Amino acid sequence: QHFETQQHFERTIDRDQRVEPRDWMPDAYRATMVRQIAQHAHSEIIGMQPEGVWITRAPSLRRKAILLAKVQDEAGHGLYLYSAAETLGADRGDMTAKLISGRQKYSSIFNYPTLTYADVGVIGWLVDGAAICNQVPLCRSSYGPYARAMIRICKEESFHQRQGYELLMTLMRGTRGQREMVQDAVDRWWWPSLMMFGPPDTDSTHTAQSMAWKIKRHTNDELRQRFVDMTVPQADALGVTLPDPDLRWNADRDHHDFGAIDWSELKRVISGDGPCNAERVAARRAAHEEGAWVRDAAVAYAAKHAARQAG
Ligand code: 3HC
Repeated sequence: QHFETQQHFERTIDRDQRVEPRDWMPDAYRATMVRQIAQHAHSEIIGMQPEGVWITRAPSLRRKAILLAKVQDEAGHGLYLYSAAETLGADRGDMTAKLISGRQKYSSIFNYPTLTYADVGVIGWLVDGAAICNQVPLCRSSYGPYARAMIRICKEESFHQRQGYELLMTLMRGTRGQREMVQDAVDRWWWPSLMMFGPPDTDSTHTAQSMAWKIKRHTNDELRQRFVDMTVPQADALGVTLPDPDLRWNADRDHHDFGAIDWSELKRVISGDGPCNAERVAARRAAHEEGAWVRDAAVAYAAKHAARQAG
């Protein structure tokens, strides 16, 4: 059965139970869930572009097949998440329109260019690694459909991260030029990967409320720290240097200290002024417009089918 009142909602959250689509929920809870889920879905869809350009240029059939599978997974993640948003009353066409017009966001990380094939490995290792840090706790998010989508998505993300790390291991055992290509990609993707976790807690509009409603289980800074602590040993094993002279183990904190993040860069990228924002949104708009005939045909077919049923 589903619950009708604020009291039930609060008791559900207090007991770490899940809010389901037909339960009563505060309008603000519904709105922030649509906001986060839609932007998460947009991130998956836009995220297909940076690595998608390397599918035709992968160095072997095996690498091409792996990258194709990963990009297809991202599309699937986007569709799960749009479906989760629809359980809250959001409309898929409306969410796409908001993405294309800049009224809904997608992750800053996808506004950077993929300049060499090593970027494909670094995206798997760092970007999907950061996504895993962020998404594992979301498996316990209070909104049922979102948490369940996360459980399935996390299984596929771990493959994404492992294939990236293995790709980099192979390049690091290659020529000097290949090793330099990996280091160059790490230098370009490290700080934007830390920014993926969002602004510092002191500057985060939603964290307090999202923690109170158990949408988020950890704050932006907590997850960022967890990602740094997890990644430093991996960088050592890979033989690359992370581009932060202030990065060091702090035994008192039992965590790594790291250098200051340039928050003005995150603000610039979020506001649309990153290296690839215009290109990413233009590509999404073009795909939507070129696909209009498919949507129109599906609607026409459904109408004909319904008329035949009724007739
Ligand atoms: N990129 C773009 N916008 C960002 C951002 C980022 N990295 N970090 C924060 N923002 C935006 C927020 O959306 C919010 O703007 P809004 O009010 O218009 O939505 C504003 O900056 C303030 O940030 P807050 O920290 O207050 O916002 P949140 O509480 O929503 O936290 C978040 C931001 C940590 C990204 C959170 O929304 C979240 O965990 N989202 C789900 C995870 C997600 O979206 N991941 C995308 C990563 S890419 C991915 O998963 C694909 C993978 O396959 C590689």
